[in-house]
Amino acid sequence: MSDDSKKTVHLPRWKEDFPTRWEDDQYVTRRDLARFLAIGSALLAGANAAVAVVGRTRQKRVFSPKRIAAIDALSPGEALLFRYPTDDDPCILVRTKPGALVAFSQVCTHLSCAVVYRAADDRLFCPCHNGVFECGEGTNGAAPVAGPPARPLPRIVIEERGDNVFAVGVET
Ligand code: FES
Repeated sequence: MSDDSKKTVHLPRWKEDFPTRWEDDQYVTRRDLARFLAIGSALLAGANAAVAVVGRTRQKRVFSPKRIAAIDALSPGEALLFRYPTDDDPCILVRTKPGALVAFSQVCTHLSCAVVYRAADDRLFCPCHNGVFECGEGTNGAAPVAGPPARPLPRIVIEERGDNVFAVGVET
């Protein structure tokens, strides 16, 4: 037996505390990697679905009713401006060509210019960057149809009470 085999090997202190070999520490099995990728992908897909659902869910907020105008104040193809729920919130009431009474925030969802009603095509138009919105009833009543805006205009919930039209809430 040689003298070399009798020598005691002294490991550094840190190796005694962490006896795992460096190569083993870095080793990841294919199964672990596949599991990690599958779980990560599932979490991302779930998060995307949640964002999509929240983004499509419109919220309705109720404010104090406010008289806007007399019901017969507008003929088809006409609009008037009002403010709701505060004096800092410009809105537009439109009697569409088919005769529906609808109201929206006048603040463009792109960069906040004021939209106007264009009777020629029965739509709302933003002159700043040529944004165009539908001008109809229902939750998609003010969906963007052209230009840079990606979100619909907030809809002002209106009610006909007697001979008058009242704003009663905002749907965003
Ligand atoms: S601000 Fe309305 S389209 Fe840009």
